[in-house]
Amino acid sequence: MTAEKIALITGANKGIGLEIARQLSQQGTFVLIGARDAARGKEAAALLTADGLAVAALSIDVTDPASVAGAARDIEEQHGRLDILVNNAGITGSFRGEPSAVTPDELRQVYDTNVFGVVAVTNQMLPLLRRAAAGRIVNMSSGLGSLTLSSDPGSQFGDYNLVTYQSSKTALNALTVAYAKELRETAIKVNAADPGFTATDLNNHRGYRTVEQAAVVAVRLATLGADGPTGTFQDENGAVPW
Ligand SMILES: NC(=O)c1ccc[n+]([C@@H]2O[C@H](COP(=O)([O-])OP(=O)(O)OC[C@H]3O[C@@H](n4cnc5c(N)ncnc54)[C@H](OP(=O)(O)O)[C@@H]3O)[C@@H](O)[C@H]2O)c1
Repeated sequence: MTAEKIALITGANKGIGLEIARQLSQQGTFVLIGARDAARGKEAAALLTADGLAVAALSIDVTDPASVAGAARDIEEQHGRLDILVNNAGITGSFRGEPSAVTPDELRQVYDTNVFGVVAVTNQMLPLLRRAAAGRIVNMSSGLGSLTLSSDPGSQFGDYNLVTYQSSKTALNALTVAYAKELRETAIKVNAADPGFTATDLNNHRGYRTVEQAAVVAVRLATLGADGPTGTFQDENGAVPW
């Protein structure tokens, strides 16, 4: 086993995940760049390696149980444990919106990645996280998943009704609470991060925040000290309402 911390970030070949990888590795963590496409993962890892950072690509499609199990086996063989898991991989689906226009299949497809994928990855990685001195799990959620904000006509999300994506992030928030509850007697902390509306491929770069800004909250939650919170939903300014 190595002394440095080992992190896995799913969907880290681009966007916010790649920037979380950069910031965590700049802090001395060895980062596994999770990517469903091996070539894209290697390219992203090469970018960071060229900057002198310690990273490696790891193939993981969060919707493919064999791929997730294989990734856990690789980490076990090469590192023997996992200190940080960032469940970052996410998709929006068609972003069509109103519930009456959405089909169960569309909902299922988005949930496969944003919800069921998180359960699959987390459960495969938990034995490795339990071996770390201070395991940290960060779930990349969204303010759009906040029921408090989306049900408040006066909030910034009062007029949004992108039910597929929003309800998937609400479910992810519920998973965050449930895992934190199960793990509260352990050293593992589980929190959800809201990166804010960020310019990435996810929204055709319409977001007004940079990936550098978006990654900050995830990195903070991934590196919480022993006295840090668990079972919370946070953006860079602190608590976000559930
Ligand atoms: N951008 C925003 O404004 C915003 C706001 C709130 C929350 N978020 C959340 O932040 C996270 C990152 O989003 P982003 O904006 O950085 O999006 P992005 O640039 O589209 O990146 C998404 C990443 O997820 C990967 N991915 C998708 N499906 C996957 C699967 N089945 N297995 C493994 N990886 C998969 C993608 O891989 P490929 O390259 O192979 O497609 C890509 O690496 C998401 O969970 C998103 O919901 C984003």
